[in-house]
Amino acid sequence: MGCTTTVERSARRPGTTQAADRWRSPTGWVLWTLEALRSCLVHVAHLSLQDFRSYPAAEVALGPGVTAFVGPNGQGKTNLVEAIGYVASHGSHRAATDAPLVRHGAPRAIVRAGIVKDDRKALIELEINPGRANRARLNRSPVPRPREILGMLRTVLFAPEDLSLVKGDPGERRRFMDELLTARAPRFAGVRSDYDRVLKQRNALLKSAAAHRRSPGAEVLATLDVWDSHLARTGSELLAARLDLVEALRPLVARAYADLAPAGDAADLTYKSSLGDAELSTDRGKLGEQLLSAMGESRKQELERGVSLVGPHRDELVLRLGELPARGYASHGESWSFALGLRLAAFDLLRADGDDPVLILDDVFAELDTGRRDRLAEMVVPAEQVLITAAVPADVPAELTGGSYTVSDGRITRD
Ligand SMILES: Nc1ncnc2c1ncn2[C@@H]1O[C@H](COP(=O)(O)OP(=O)(O)OP(=O)(O)O)[C@@H](O)[C@H]1O
Ligand SMILES: [Mg+2]
Repeated sequence: MGCTTTVERSARRPGTTQAADRWRSPTGWVLWTLEALRSCLVHVAHLSLQDFRSYPAAEVALGPGVTAFVGPNGQGKTNLVEAIGYVASHGSHRAATDAPLVRHGAPRAIVRAGIVKDDRKALIELEINPGRANRARLNRSPVPRPREILGMLRTVLFAPEDLSLVKGDPGERRRFMDELLTARAPRFAGVRSDYDRVLKQRNALLKSAAAHRRSPGAEVLATLDVWDSHLARTGSELLAARLDLVEALRPLVARAYADLAPAGDAADLTYKSSLGDAELSTDRGKLGEQLLSAMGESRKQELERGVSLVGPHRDELVLRLGELPARGYASHGESWSFALGLRLAAFDLLRADGDDPVLILDDVFAELDTGRRDRLAEMVVPAEQVLITAAVPADVPAELTGGSYTVSDGRITRD
């Protein structure tokens, strides 16, 4: 599929010069040019919902540029952008399972999104069946597994729940890394589910061995050896990818945070592995060996405790502001800006890879002071499509002009 050049891009985006200032450092400018050359223009042109969250039915036409959804609390603004996020990731940013996504009392939900990628159109349809397999159709033809259409649409969604990226448990930050890996390369959905399956089976074996409270027999140990090698194989793939990802994100997070909070401390990230503090190479073979030998060393402890103590499921992405860890130290505003910096960095990374992701900002501006609000508004203008939700029109910065809808009483009305 052909993608636009920088020239075409600039021509389509008059008035973005000021907003693109952050790309103006010599390296920034080169990065921007390279990114733009490789980027495709993607936007959601139409969203159609059936029994999704509070909506029995809803139809929304969308275009490139900024679209704001404004309305009082609890009227269904987030539900709309959540549906678009679901089309991209097959998951919700605020529900761990699919059940809450289906309108109360309805058997299933259907989300359809018309995508325009350069000049081509695609229709993605997802049927959400809680407790049963979901179904997907692409251009009205069934797709064998929904996972196969991951990557058709990419979104970066920033929402109030993202505060837990900074303040929450390590699992939140692992999920951030793994979701971003999947957005960059959809095959990671398979790697993640393989790893989770292996881990579950290995834990079940360790748990039953621990429950017997005596030395496990040769058969159990031989089975454990097999699970060790499976865990090392999938674990090393996930670990190598996360290490690469963190290296790619570091400068982008530092830059996004500095843009948002120029007077603040520098933001940095490091990957803390259950393999210890020694520097890790990203060579999968080596990492696999290291995982195997660490499992060997912890075997006694694992058998006593009945859980897997080594592997990417125990790892942490450590966020720092200056010398201090962000978790437990950063202020509310700093944590919020750090979380936003992580999302903006994810956006930059996806954009550098190829298709422009759709940027979704759910209730973001009301939390920021005027300076950060203005800087964020400038930063997001160059995105191909930006979807914003806000409770009142005053929460949408004036420079973000575009389409707007009022969401009230379950109705979505174009202003
Ligand atoms: N599965 C469901 N079935 C029916 N209604 C639901 C379902 N899930 C959520 N709702 C309803 O949707 C409404 C919340 O919608 P949403 O979160 O989109 O509001 P919002 O407009 O973003 O509000 P706020 O400004 O407070 O963020 C609530 O009234 C909730 O009860
Ligand atoms: Mg909301």
